[in-house]
Amino acid sequence: MNDSSMTKNKELVQWVDDMAKMCKPEKIYWCDGSQNEYDSIIRIVVDSGLAIPLNKDKRPNCFLFRSDPSDVARVEDRTYIAAKTKDEAGPTNNWIDPGELKKTMKGLYDGCMKGRTMYVIPFSMGPVGSPIAQIGIEITDSPYVVVNMHIMTRVGRRVLEVLGEDGVFIPCLHSVGKPLAEGESDGPDWPCAPIEKKFISHFPEEKMIWSYGSGYGGNALLGKKCFALRIASVMAREQGWMAEHMLILGITNPEGEKKYIAGAFPSACGKTNLAMLIPTIPGWKVETVGDDIAWMKFGADGRLYAINPEAGFFGVAPGTSLDSNYNATKAIEKNTIFTNVALTKDQDVWWEGIGYDAPAGKIIDWTGKEWTKGSGKVAAHANARFTAPARQCPAIDPDWENPNGVPISAFLFGGRRPSTIPLVHQSFNWNHGVFLGSIVGSEITAAAISANIGQVRRDPFAMLPFCGYNMGDYFRHWISIGTKTSADKLPKIFYVNWFRKAANGEWLWPGYGENSRLLKWVFERCAGTGTANETAIGYMPTQDAIDTTGLNVSAADMRELLDVNKDDWKKEVADIREHYAKFGDRLPVELKNELDALEKRLN
Ligand code: GTP
Ligand code: SPV
Ligand code: MN
Repeated sequence: MNDSSMTKNKELVQWVDDMAKMCKPEKIYWCDGSQNEYDSIIRIVVDSGLAIPLNKDKRPNCFLFRSDPSDVARVEDRTYIAAKTKDEAGPTNNWIDPGELKKTMKGLYDGCMKGRTMYVIPFSMGPVGSPIAQIGIEITDSPYVVVNMHIMTRVGRRVLEVLGEDGVFIPCLHSVGKPLAEGESDGPDWPCAPIEKKFISHFPEEKMIWSYGSGYGGNALLGKKCFALRIASVMAREQGWMAEHMLILGITNPEGEKKYIAGAFPSACGKTNLAMLIPTIPGWKVETVGDDIAWMKFGADGRLYAINPEAGFFGVAPGTSLDSNYNATKAIEKNTIFTNVALTKDQDVWWEGIGYDAPAGKIIDWTGKEWTKGSGKVAAHANARFTAPARQCPAIDPDWENPNGVPISAFLFGGRRPSTIPLVHQSFNWNHGVFLGSIVGSEITAAAISANIGQVRRDPFAMLPFCGYNMGDYFRHWISIGTKTSADKLPKIFYVNWFRKAANGEWLWPGYGENSRLLKWVFERCAGTGTANETAIGYMPTQDAIDTTGLNVSAADMRELLDVNKDDWKKEVADIREHYAKFGDRLPVELKNELDALEKRLN
């Protein structure tokens, strides 16, 4: 559609008009979300050379994109929470005065879409019409963004119908920041702006997103981290619900009883893998509701109900194999967009950890150059991704689109911690669990552009790059959630660590499907049957509580995995004190008390 006749929402029509006046596109296109539309936009990018069609027999309806080497991940340094005051944004967010930021960005947006089409994408985060869902409108000049949004969200007419004449929406403006000169046409090169012109900006008071200069992932697919986490976290705090960087899975025991678990792990720390795992313990089943984001509200019964606001997976490709993640491997067999993976001679994809050696013949790496095996260079970028429809996951949960969500029995927190943190422990109660969330730490991964990959940083609730307001107030919000219902209805809280390493640098725990052994204990703790010992750091499984039948881990390694070393933990306490000091008087006293109590228990 080339006009705004699809909606009678005056505010929307006005906003699109205003943005078009500023960005000066050649034309405006309103997305209807149809397959026809997807196909025709794909044709545009294939014709220009930006996308490569993959082998029709091996990967039907799949396409490969290669981004600019400067535009391969989220840019946390260029991500801003433009709250009214710096204090509102808090010590963990970049802040620029909203007036000043708008002025700078208006300068960049002025004429930024010259020669390009401005796409208007009406999208729903969550099943269309669900009481937990929200509507956004993304304006973008990137056809790559349009096709990705088609997969990652629910797009089109039905969203505008729910929006109606006076419904509210989150305005999300995006430009790759590369206007075309007179007579210049769009070629095969990935359009983006240099790093100093990239801005991923959030205006929490106005509930508005302005993104400029990047076409990649969370920088550009604005429904995901920008809306569903940064802006939604602000809305959730105002309205008493939760927007979290969490996977959601359903787990069924051999007797057929089912529970839902949500888990927060920092970027590239295993959410997609855990959400789709195939248990190695007989009789147990895991089904996927979501792999990245959870929105939760209290139900009439006082329990927390979660929806996955997304409709697709934007997953890390490297390391994904039939062995490590069967369900993801099946989900990406067709109708999938690949970004920054390697291309084989027969037009299939390849990446490190795909489960087999690079096939014979010419391999083109993610930079578009011929790749030589053993060159020491990777063929796929470490943050190469697939975009696949969630419904293609063989393990998708029957209730994954239930508009009312699924009831959550447990929260897991975790990260990449080579030492100190044991394989699993459980909090004593809600506030102690909030404490565990607040101290999540992890080695920095390739999901964000950083010079410090591998260093451990605190990433509370895996929300460090995604919390849209002062993190101290966010901690307070978590504490207050615990007062809204009775203790028995709140999810139980656990801390897991699949990433503990031996002295020789090898993983102590095999991970992936074997993580089901921990999920089983979590399930049993929620059912009131799992046994635990009280330790200084929380409840830990008793000697036989973790089912190790058929597990290939030595007893000594198992002891090390579950070891709580008091000296290490004393160092941890000192580090947490430093971490907490950043929040000043915004730190809830409940958390300071938890830290003091932990320190006492360690002595
Ligand atoms: P984002 O999409 O960035 O939020 O990442 P994610 O949390 O969904 O992480 P994902 O499941 O994509 O995993 C990232 C990397 O961790 C992949 O390379 C996986 O192979 C690896 N990984 C996942 N689970 C495990 C595990 O249990 N053990 C080990 N050692 N590695 C794992
Ligand atoms: C993450 O970095 O946590 C992701 C990928 O899920 S992105 O969409 O780029 O944020
Ligand atoms: Mn993520």
